[in-house]
Amino acid sequence: MKNYRIGVIPGDGTGPEVVREGLKILEAAARKYGFKYETIVYPFGGEHYKKTGETLPDSAIEEFKKLDALYLGAIGHPDVKPGILEQGILLKIRFSLDQYINLRPVKLYPNVWTPIKDKGPEDIDFVVVRENTEGLYVGAGGFLRKGTPFEVAIQESINTRKGVERCIRFAFEYTIKRNKKKKLTLCGKTNVLTYAFDLWERTFYEVAREYPEVQTDYAHVDATTMWMVKNPEWFDVIVTDNMFGDIITDLGAMIQGGMGVAAGGNINPEGVSMFEPIGGSAPKYTGQNVINPIAAICALGMLLDNIGESEASQAVENAVIKALETGKIKSMSAGKMGLTTQEVGDLIASFI
Ligand code: IPM
Ligand code: MN
Repeated sequence: MKNYRIGVIPGDGTGPEVVREGLKILEAAARKYGFKYETIVYPFGGEHYKKTGETLPDSAIEEFKKLDALYLGAIGHPDVKPGILEQGILLKIRFSLDQYINLRPVKLYPNVWTPIKDKGPEDIDFVVVRENTEGLYVGAGGFLRKGTPFEVAIQESINTRKGVERCIRFAFEYTIKRNKKKKLTLCGKTNVLTYAFDLWERTFYEVAREYPEVQTDYAHVDATTMWMVKNPEWFDVIVTDNMFGDIITDLGAMIQGGMGVAAGGNINPEGVSMFEPIGGSAPKYTGQNVINPIAAICALGMLLDNIGESEASQAVENAVIKALETGKIKSMSAGKMGLTTQEVGDLIASFI
């Protein structure tokens, strides 16, 4: 029997509450699909930082490298200056484990309200492949004449041929594996970012020659946000850089029903990947048992697929759909679900 080692970082705010439900589903899936697992829980997050001054030590990264996958709740604490935990924990993991893909499905499940008029689950079903280790996120740049009236702040977007190509290649492969519309859209800004997206566009069409079965398309990022709202059914897979991917996937989360349902995976196809609900730590709902665990459960589903338990992964998604179809979950928003966090977890677990 397979035995997986899963690192768990419950993190801040409501992170631990939703992770608990995700682990409940993991337990149910393991029993049903006959695999074993061991969880290694890590304390990293805002509270740990306040107590110890430590964000994430390099020794933890070395330990993570020996895991099969990582499962993260949320990082972000109201008492900690913005940036410290994000950079010191989340981005440090993405960069040091070379998780160069951020895979974010935008899928409207049945009985989930979308703000997009006249669109349903058959229209909203696409995936964003966000580059996850380059672009504006590398922190290149600096200040000139800081603090003077002539101050200049420079923030550079770093795009390497290797980094862009591996991301685009992943997106083509993923489009084929997904086997739906077989359409891949490059989202960029070739009309203004004439260096960065020139590289992206050239690489995209070069790699495309190796995948003649995939229909290619290009959209500027501003137009992409428009189409996501107006004609979401046009999309199948979107590939884009780190910053644009960050922005359009928050919009994606909204059209699929909100942060309570949006999950993502930080993937290193050759290494250790990390799965997380993409919403934040929601401090004001902490400890109230009202936060929606569906995003965390879907993230767990993606984790199962990543470690090779694809049947169990499919079962998790099916269980989420069945739970939604009961009509017992009244809303995707915290405090309005009509059920507690734990009850939603139990309901989904009952369908595994
Ligand atoms: C996300 C988040 C992070 C990002 C923040 C917390 C650094 O917004 O995962 O999308 O910008 O990537
Ligand atoms: Mn984001």
